[in-house]
Amino acid sequence: MKIKNICCIGAGYVGGPTMAVIAQKCPEINVTVVDINDQRIAAWNDEDVENIPIYEPGLSAVVQEARGRNLFFSTDVDAAIDKADMIFISVNTPTKTYGIGKGMAADLKFIELCARQIARVSKDDKIVVEKSTLPVRTAEALKNILDNTGNGVNYQILSNPEFLAEGTAVDDLMNPDRVLIGGDIETPVGKEAVEALVDVYAHWVPRERLLTTNVWSSELSKLTANAFLAQRVSSINAMSELCEKTGADVNEVSKAVGMDSRIGSKFLKSSVGFGGSCFQKDILNLVYISKSFGLHEVADYWEQVILMNDHQKRRFAAKIVQTLFNTVSGKKIALLGWAFKKDTNDTRESAAIYVADYLLNEQAEIVVYDPKVSTEQIYTDLDYLNSRSSEENRARAKVVNTPYEATKDSHAVAILTEWDEFKDLDWQKVYDEMLKPAFLFDGRRLLQRETKEAIGFEFYAIGS
Ligand code: NAD
Ligand code: UGA
Repeated sequence: MKIKNICCIGAGYVGGPTMAVIAQKCPEINVTVVDINDQRIAAWNDEDVENIPIYEPGLSAVVQEARGRNLFFSTDVDAAIDKADMIFISVNTPTKTYGIGKGMAADLKFIELCARQIARVSKDDKIVVEKSTLPVRTAEALKNILDNTGNGVNYQILSNPEFLAEGTAVDDLMNPDRVLIGGDIETPVGKEAVEALVDVYAHWVPRERLLTTNVWSSELSKLTANAFLAQRVSSINAMSELCEKTGADVNEVSKAVGMDSRIGSKFLKSSVGFGGSCFQKDILNLVYISKSFGLHEVADYWEQVILMNDHQKRRFAAKIVQTLFNTVSGKKIALLGWAFKKDTNDTRESAAIYVADYLLNEQAEIVVYDPKVSTEQIYTDLDYLNSRSSEENRARAKVVNTPYEATKDSHAVAILTEWDEFKDLDWQKVYDEMLKPAFLFDGRRLLQRETKEAIGFEFYAIGS
């Protein structure tokens, strides 16, 4: 079976880049990305391709090449579903904020709405692909809805979780370590659906990297991968605190440990804490699923990864307060970076939000500079925590357009995102314009201690 028309529901960080790459690599397949957020769709369609709603290195060029040829963005969800032979569901699956499983389980209401819409609209057989990260066995629920509320057409459900990381999305999509496709490989129709998706990826991914499994293994592998990655960061962050007490240096430890080929060197960079929309949400989901099966030891084991991360964010903020003679009340503190990592404008669960909130609770005046995050987004993030009124957030947190406006007249500077440009700031100028003693806190191990201390900074870096 050859796929001719793809529809992707959800034009976000995953749906947008993934479909842009599929469209670029498969010029004979029409790809329509739909979303209920009309502003987002308008931005994807913006004449100036630099205004697309997601900042990812290399993405605008891919969109430029395919958009209008075989890549389309639209709010007409029904029409795109109707026309498609393969439908990707790539909507958000946030942590539930209400009811049973509040604060832990994945909220599947957006997924269910998609399933009901597909069932209502479809007049011919469809392959439905779970692209969103979902609890293991969600495909069962999807199938149930599709088979019982549909128009009698046949559905094959595949799980095809996405492993791209933000900031490197295009590279990750162009050259993935593997593409995972879970399906009903026991039946001929299931196998045919899996093969149809394999053929799409085979346009550019070597066959040996296209891994097919049963649906449940695929769903669970995605949660497992994120849990393992986050666990490595929490493990090295746990060691960073011990390094600070013992005179060891976490960068040296991580290098020494990572050179063991059984351990590997990646994801061992100590930081102010991991952020991003997924690590925390997916581990909480894993914890919830484990508990729901009565596997309390399994649940506790993974929950510790989150507890360690919360501790790391708090610990960094507390260190600032403690170092500034135990009070930051009325003191100006410059925060460099707000995104959860460099090369993205995404701020979801960014450690910066929690560090800022801690400092505001201590009555600091904070001034934020981030090269890609909008002022509006920063206030939205602070308001979302509900720690104080939005007027107060606007009065006590300022957002500026250059790093030097942020650092001028400040008592302390904290690096919260590892943007490359922070390495090359005129640190002498920063020092000259700060109040003394000039404190510099490196939450990303971005800067060289020796050169900063030579300028005169009181320098603190995580894990040393
Ligand atoms: P996102 O919030 O950026 O995008 C989701 C989009 O879906 C939104 O624009 C929203 O308006 C739209 N949407 C929701 N319900 C809809 C409906 N019924 N009809 C049409 N559109 C609808 O989310 P994201 O970051 O792209 O994540 C999507 C999924 O992919 C999540 O499950 C996430 O866990 C997973 N994932 C994310 C990443 C990442 O790097 N962000 C990586 C791998 C996997
Ligand atoms: C992560 C995974 O890497 C992707 O494979 C996955 O698809 C995605 O989650 C998802 O499911 O959403 P992402 O969150 O975009 O991708 O970015 P990462 O590079 O994994 O970074 C996550 C956080 O960990 C960032 O805050 C980063 O600064 C931090 N981190 C990462 C460290 O502190 N140290 C490290 O060594 C690595």
